[in-house]
Amino acid sequence: MEEQIRSEILKTIPYGFYITGVVGSDGEANGFTTCWVSQVSFEPQQVIVAVRKDQHTHDLIEDGGVFSLNFLDTEQEELARKFTEPLHPQNGTLAGSPYSTGETGAPLFEEAFAHLECRVVGKLEAGDHTVYLGEVAAASLTRPADILTDLDTPMEYGG
Ligand SMILES: Cc1cc2nc3c(=O)[nH]c(=O)nc-3n(C[C@H](O)[C@H](O)[C@H](O)COP(=O)(O)O)c2cc1C
Repeated sequence: MEEQIRSEILKTIPYGFYITGVVGSDGEANGFTTCWVSQVSFEPQQVIVAVRKDQHTHDLIEDGGVFSLNFLDTEQEELARKFTEPLHPQNGTLAGSPYSTGETGAPLFEEAFAHLECRVVGKLEAGDHTVYLGEVAAASLTRPADILTDLDTPMEYGG
């Protein structure tokens, strides 16, 4: 019973939705929908992202040492859904979404309204996830928008 209450309480923590872009040292790019993200330092500007250890994208971030956060807007729930499946890049797209390569080498998805590129400067083992500490290396704003959150969709991650 308490287990269920814990889970219900954890599910009330609000999150923004992103596609985290990753790239292996051999140049293999990928991306996945992510919500366990937070800023954790002003100076230098640093963020954390929690990545499940049994995912292919975990191997890529571990290998490449960089990631991008691609910010999704309130109209992009379908895009967020597409990136919850294992994907394979094809002709510069992933699940039909075009991307360019940022200055860190991480993929930047064109449909995102903003991008942050980060270099991994630390990590913490957290049970079934690894928490990566990323220092912001580059940023771009494509258009002003409101970020998609779990309050806007039935999609959830947590509990
Ligand atoms: C709403 C939502 C949020 C998610 N957030 C995260 C997250 O913060 N970290 C994570 O590792 N996986 C998260 N996932 C799961 C990944 O998107 C999913 O496992 C994806 O398939 C991983 O890509 P891969 O299999 O190519 O490695 C989330 C899934 C959903 C539905």
